[in-house]
Amino acid sequence: MKTLLSGFLLFAFFFANGQEPCPIIPTPTVYKVIQGEYDLNETLSIARNEMPQNVYNFLEKELESQFEIALQAGGEQSNLRFLKIRNVPEGSYSINVGNEVVVTYSSDESCLHAVISLLQMIHGEHELWMIRKSFVNDSPKFGWRGLHLDVSRHFFSVDEVKRFIDLMTFYKFNTFHWHLTDDQGWRIEIKKYPELTTIGAYRDSTVIGHYGDSPRKYEHQKYGGYYSQEEVKDVVAYAAERYITVVPEIEMPGHSRAALAAYPEYSCTGEENPVPGLWGIFDDIYCSKEESINFMKDILSEVLTLFPSEYIHIGGDEAPKTRWKTCKDCQKVIKENGLKDEHELQSHFIRQIDSYLTEKGRKLIGWDEILEGGLSPNAAVMSWRGEKGGIEAAKQGHNVVMSPTTYCYFDYYQSGHSIEPLAIGGYLPLEKVYKFNPVPSELSVEEAGYILGGQANLWTEYIPDMDHLEYMTYPRALAISQSLWCTQKPSYERFLESYLAYHETFLARNNVNFSRSIHLPEMVIERTDLGINVGFAGATKSAEFDAEVSSWLINEYYSGAVGTGDDNRIFIGREPDGNTVNYSFKIGADMFEDTFMYSLKANADIGIPIELLTPPHPKYDHNGSLNLVDGIEGSMPWKGSEWLGFREPKIEMILDLETVKEVNGVKIGFMDNNGSWIYLPETVIVEASSDKKSWREVNGSDVNESTDDGDFSCSFNVETRYLKITIGAMELIPEGLDGAGNMPWTFIDEIELIYAEK
Ligand code: ACM
Ligand code: ZN
Repeated sequence: MKTLLSGFLLFAFFFANGQEPCPIIPTPTVYKVIQGEYDLNETLSIARNEMPQNVYNFLEKELESQFEIALQAGGEQSNLRFLKIRNVPEGSYSINVGNEVVVTYSSDESCLHAVISLLQMIHGEHELWMIRKSFVNDSPKFGWRGLHLDVSRHFFSVDEVKRFIDLMTFYKFNTFHWHLTDDQGWRIEIKKYPELTTIGAYRDSTVIGHYGDSPRKYEHQKYGGYYSQEEVKDVVAYAAERYITVVPEIEMPGHSRAALAAYPEYSCTGEENPVPGLWGIFDDIYCSKEESINFMKDILSEVLTLFPSEYIHIGGDEAPKTRWKTCKDCQKVIKENGLKDEHELQSHFIRQIDSYLTEKGRKLIGWDEILEGGLSPNAAVMSWRGEKGGIEAAKQGHNVVMSPTTYCYFDYYQSGHSIEPLAIGGYLPLEKVYKFNPVPSELSVEEAGYILGGQANLWTEYIPDMDHLEYMTYPRALAISQSLWCTQKPSYERFLESYLAYHETFLARNNVNFSRSIHLPEMVIERTDLGINVGFAGATKSAEFDAEVSSWLINEYYSGAVGTGDDNRIFIGREPDGNTVNYSFKIGADMFEDTFMYSLKANADIGIPIELLTPPHPKYDHNGSLNLVDGIEGSMPWKGSEWLGFREPKIEMILDLETVKEVNGVKIGFMDNNGSWIYLPETVIVEASSDKKSWREVNGSDVNESTDDGDFSCSFNVETRYLKITIGAMELIPEGLDGAGNMPWTFIDEIELIYAEK
């Protein structure tokens, strides 16, 4: 219900409650409006020596480029005053806009933050710029406010990386995690090993479309690039001027095919393999022998001269142990060091790197797999496979950066719409990002102290260029900046008000190719007693939708604000047993020239209560059990929202037919998309009960035998009130298949009961 209302209530709310949205994102700790406006078009003078030179330059440049306001050097009489003060919380600043503008700040960095807030407070139009008379007091909550960028899968030039950093600056991020090496390309010059870039920086082909597609297609064109050490220094200095720390990532022992293409002697087999043009995980990784460890140390010694960051990211994720199991060098290391298995060998590998970095006065950070087989004493963990790794690490007293896929993977789809460009998968709309809290509730206050902060990750397999990168990053980066900065995050609705009132204009003025997906009409379904209500929501600027609803029974035209309230929701009731009615809706939205089509199929089960005894994975839990009986069939390529995703070997649910009925079978829609580790289940068992206590089995069919295109169906004849469905998935994906050794996903879009025709 909340979602149904969010889009449109917003506008009513916006105008009705009279409370002005705060123009600053991330929302400051205190923002108080005082009567009146400060007119910016009178001479704006500033005493140059009151702020660091780099911040002055930043302010001067932004005022000029965004507002065409010239800053004049003044003295004591200036109308824009900056005062550095002591004995205030670290990182804090305040802005007082009255008859003059007075800023106080505690550090150079907080001076920049004050300037950014001040710039965001400017509203109006050309030559009529103003700032509301107001008071701001602010400081950040977390010390690690990061965005990550993968430049291996697709390469971004120095200018593009600087642009990425510029935009980060505007939302007060302070950590740029630069993912410089991966299977598909090595992107940093290492003088001792020139072939890392002459060979490792280029691939001969790149997969086209989704890598799970069958058959796969390739573009046979050389692709690549790298940064010279001079360019790296330039980027690091550029970021430092904006108080952004660049944390380099040098992946090991996995995701190392590009390096091994250049130096195969550091692999287990010594085999020469090209830089791959395919995404995924590869078996060939660095060998754990001493020569390979020394190779890594040599590389890191050059990396350390370029990056002054406290932390150095060494990857550590997704390293299959296949080669290590059969490598005599690796087995020798296991034996000589009394290690239990290859997981301990990975830990042994990472520990040596950890000791090296510690010796050099730095700290190691790695993806949460570095916990397996024992964590190095000084290491920090970046938790990506949910929050579990981060929780465990914090409990062990290690520093943690939270970056769970559930909230932080910006390579996932941001709406379920057909207009979204191809992405890896997943479903991460703005509202879900907004729910991110870097501190899991499982942690005590003391353990929570180990959470340094969080970050969003931009993996670029499906992000080929800068425009697309901005599309995937914005506005979601604003939502995550709230989670990382705000001591008390306002509601999503309040955030959206600020965003819509000020930041789309800001992003547009800065030519950011931000996503307009939140303006797309979103079909919102609510369960009701006898069926469902359908509405359309979307944070569109004018609250107008036209909905044309047609089915073989009706052909109606609704205009006005579909979805804004009770009057604008369309009720779709359960059809008599055996009937099916197709509904289609055509919706126009003013931000887009297109109209959008939606359809659903109503039958006797639409909206019936389902109890999910096995919860879906939080990443793929859109609308809960209603998703399975909302009449909406999942489409392909899938975008997350139409499917419920489970990652359990046994999935149980109980359907309540509400009265005793004669049922003749069941049809369940499963996804078969092995490239994404989504597999059909192995068994489906259906049981019936009149009291939800004693169950009798009505079917025990082998799902693969009765499945056609992922649709499982079986027939039986039973009179029942309740049906229990138990789905058995594989425990682990077998060798030779995509995702081998991992737990498979089970995806379900719809469940339909079959009735004898009446
Ligand atoms: C990761 O997404 N493999 C860290
Ligand atoms: Zn080996």
